Amino acid sequence: MAEKAKIAVFISGTGTNMAALLYASRLESSPFEIVLIASNIASADGLALAELEGIPTFVHSHKGHSREDHDTAMEAAAKQAGTEFIVLAGYMRVLSDAFVERWDGRILNIHPSLLPKYKGLDPHARAIEAGDSHAGASVHLVTPELDAGEVLAQAKVAIAPDDTAETLQARVKLAEHQLYPRAVADYVARGNDPDCLFGQLRSLALALPETHERESHGSPGFRVGSEKSGKFFAYFSDRHHGSEHIALLVKTSGMDELLNLVEAQPDIYYKPAFYGASGWVGVILNRPNIDWDHIEEWLGRSWRAVAPARLTKLLDAADMF
Ligand code: GAR
Repeated sequence: MAEKAKIAVFISGTGTNMAALLYASRLESSPFEIVLIASNIASADGLALAELEGIPTFVHSHKGHSREDHDTAMEAAAKQAGTEFIVLAGYMRVLSDAFVERWDGRILNIHPSLLPKYKGLDPHARAIEAGDSHAGASVHLVTPELDAGEVLAQAKVAIAPDDTAETLQARVKLAEHQLYPRAVADYVARGNDPDCLFGQLRSLALALPETHERESHGSPGFRVGSEKSGKFFAYFSDRHHGSEHIALLVKTSGMDELLNLVEAQPDIYYKPAFYGASGWVGVILNRPNIDWDHIEEWLGRSWRAVAPARLTKLLDAADMF
């Protein structure tokens, strides 16, 4: 079994979603474990359950602190616990933009509406008021704009004619408790899924000028230039030639650089079979906390190393502005 992704759950209240996540994490097949339950409210009911279940807790009141300072304290506790993903479960604080950007792609939230409908407060009452046939819950990535990040999963809940906001909320919560653990599990497992990794890599590689995809010795690769005379600047390797890595292969300046990289950061780089001999380094993709900006930089650099001068000149000229 691969190592489990480490999540911190942030709560402000009852913590029933936290409980659903906690008991889901106890299943042997769970791809995540909870390393911290953190709250801005010392009396949050969920904290008592966390303590009973032996999960480390952290409390830091938001009162008397700026938003940034409060977020920084919560973040420090999460980091110290080894957190890889932050999962908001009824955490009723808007996070500062800087904090959200530092954790880009690694903060999830659950919101009790079928987003993009009813962002913000009182979604149940608003769904009833609007005469909707269904309410529901959405799990989404957190971005600086409130409740507006990519929706990862949703569950629908029928609205009864005599529903009040309270009765509807209670049923939506039942749906949330099914939805959230599953959505978190799917999301954290993405990092080891070759199709997801390849999809992400492909969109970055094909965003570079004049590129196309071409298979090489059974692996997908990316070339720059024409279909006829283009040159490979990247390959995708899914545990090829006995390696346990899912990786991007890109061109270094030569053997010295390659060996230095592998020696200095063996958790990121390795020397791939066959390709390594000609200076291609393997950048490991199936590892926690992968930084896609770093992958994008490598793709750009490798592209530059083989692109025809007419293209690199264009790019240099564009960079000057
Ligand atoms: C949940 O219904 C969750 O969707 C909602 O708060 C409740 C927390 O309940 N979150 C929001 O409204 C976020 N904007 P819980 O403490 O019992 O999990």
